[in-house]
Amino acid sequence: MKLWLDKIEQAQSLEELETLRVEILGKKGILTLEFAKMKTIPNEEKKEFAQKLNKQKAQINDAIENKKTTLLAKALEEQLKAEKIDVTQFVASDETAALHPVLDTMDRITTYFQNMNFSIEEGPLVEDDFHNFEALNLPKYHPARDMQDTFYCKDGAVLRTHTSPVQIRTMQNNKPPIRMIAPGSVFRKDYDITHTPMFNQIEGLVVDDIDKVSFANLKHVMVEFLQHMFGDVEVRFRPSFFPFTEPSAEVDISCLFCEGKGCKVCSQTGWLEVLGCGIVDENVFKAVGYKNVSGYAFGLGIERFAMLIHKIGDLRSLFESDIRLLGQFR
Ligand code: PHE
Repeated sequence: MKLWLDKIEQAQSLEELETLRVEILGKKGILTLEFAKMKTIPNEEKKEFAQKLNKQKAQINDAIENKKTTLLAKALEEQLKAEKIDVTQFVASDETAALHPVLDTMDRITTYFQNMNFSIEEGPLVEDDFHNFEALNLPKYHPARDMQDTFYCKDGAVLRTHTSPVQIRTMQNNKPPIRMIAPGSVFRKDYDITHTPMFNQIEGLVVDDIDKVSFANLKHVMVEFLQHMFGDVEVRFRPSFFPFTEPSAEVDISCLFCEGKGCKVCSQTGWLEVLGCGIVDENVFKAVGYKNVSGYAFGLGIERFAMLIHKIGDLRSLFESDIRLLGQFR
């Protein structure tokens, strides 16, 4: 018995331990064979004999279980030692991260206007009808609502179709003068080579005393800004329509690809449209209770800017997270 317990104690591996268990307790194991002798033992000794064997069996089982626990713990310890990772170790890599071109463009634009003393404002992505339309001089059933393919939510709420509602919120929460920009996501039901259902805009709004803000100011700020972003380009203002500005203009820059000669990108016009702007309509000021002020506003698509700056052909590639494309912007 002592011999067996010693052998168990000295077992080096789980396999060795299992072999021992079979040798002792298996079908033809030593102890099993001892139990078989019961038949030949006189009745009056049977009880004592059985008790002795059961006690031995329990001892063996205990010893095996104990040894098993020790061996498993040892194995685990060895495994942990082998798989240890030094998380503080410096690993040199030639991979560097970079901002996504859309985020990078958004940063460049906001930094530009921050340096010009504009504040940065935010608003909710799920808007109510008042802020997204009504207060921007777009009453219900106004045909210009069709300009924007709206995603409607429950209870008349909408996913904001532009960043212009942030103009309204900022005026409601502040007294003039105002000098703000509002970067953020907007949503429209649209999907093709130049449209995605979610994209990003930057809104700008300047409001001050009635004699302090003019179209000339707007024009100057836009030209300076566009030449900062695109270099030495020509800038052209084209009369246009937005319900919340009057007069309104769309602004073009001379084509970056053909320098105004006419190519596929500019549809042979020599010009690329880059933003919308205008003098804030009186009805917008009425909606927020502003009196004796004037202002200008502008809005632009950040993805469009990113595509022009980096000469990316398909808008959708900005949303595909393809590392081969993004890797080029380090
Ligand atoms: N909100 C307009 C759009 O999404 C852009 C714009 C903003 C135009 C401010 C004029 C003034 O198309």
